[in-house]
Amino acid sequence: MLVSAKEMLKKAKAGQYAVGQFNINNLEWTKAILLTAQECNSPVILGVSEGAGKYMGGYNTVVGMVVNMIKDQNITVPVALHLDHGSFEHCYKCMEAGFSSVMFDGSHYAIEENVAKTKQLVADANEKGISVEAEVGSIGGEEDGVVGAGDIADPKECKAIADLGIDFLAAGIGNIHGKYPSNWAGLSFDTLDEIQKLTGDMPLVLHGGTGIPIEMIKQAISLGVAKINVNTECQLAFADATRKYIEAGKDLEGKGFDPRKLLAPGVSAIKEAVKEKMEIFGSIGKA
Ligand code: 13P
Repeated sequence: MLVSAKEMLKKAKAGQYAVGQFNINNLEWTKAILLTAQECNSPVILGVSEGAGKYMGGYNTVVGMVVNMIKDQNITVPVALHLDHGSFEHCYKCMEAGFSSVMFDGSHYAIEENVAKTKQLVADANEKGISVEAEVGSIGGEEDGVVGAGDIADPKECKAIADLGIDFLAAGIGNIHGKYPSNWAGLSFDTLDEIQKLTGDMPLVLHGGTGIPIEMIKQAISLGVAKINVNTECQLAFADATRKYIEAGKDLEGKGFDPRKLLAPGVSAIKEAVKEKMEIFGSIGKA
């Protein structure tokens, strides 16, 4: 059974650790992340972007796969299925399909429109027990080879959005998606501190978890971050392990071309990456 991310993140914020959101792309990703969470006795959030949802065949397909895998694999740790960076329209599609959590990324709207849409969504999601993440200050990242710097959110806008009844808040503090460029300025902890002071016990979300140095992650958690999103790191780990398998010619040996063999090293690599993150985030044993 899926649960909303509300309670697990409240607990994480109070206990000064963070729950990982690991994005899924297919069945292998889903199984690797769920089994690792169970082995580590850690709560977990499975993130699905609109693009990944489409890739996997649609939101109903995703819900069917995740819910039934939890059952078949006897997963007992809390699992939330969460739409990552959703448009207003897709938040509703996911709520209908059975997601237990959605992120409305209204960061590109003027603050008034972000507020109005978030309010509407919170009212409808609350009714169904679905948790809502909102965002202030867009998260930069690589697009067509151009790396955009991450915005720094306005703490007062964060407070305005936090007061709308959302369950957790993503705030841009210089974090970006994908690999960090060598001239990256780092996270703005002063901003994070100010946001946390204004938003009280609201769990804060750090996007772009790939490649942030451990000390910065720990400092962010100490300043109220209770959810950290990781995507690229698992993709890199999977690709690297798969490349090694093929470069070693193992797909040409016996039945090495069987996808269950071909994809196995990549799956192990995802499991290792997820476990390492759970250790750093402090969520092990917190299910
Ligand atoms: P990375 O791909 O940088 O890990 O970011 C993931 C993320 O923030 C998803 O919303």
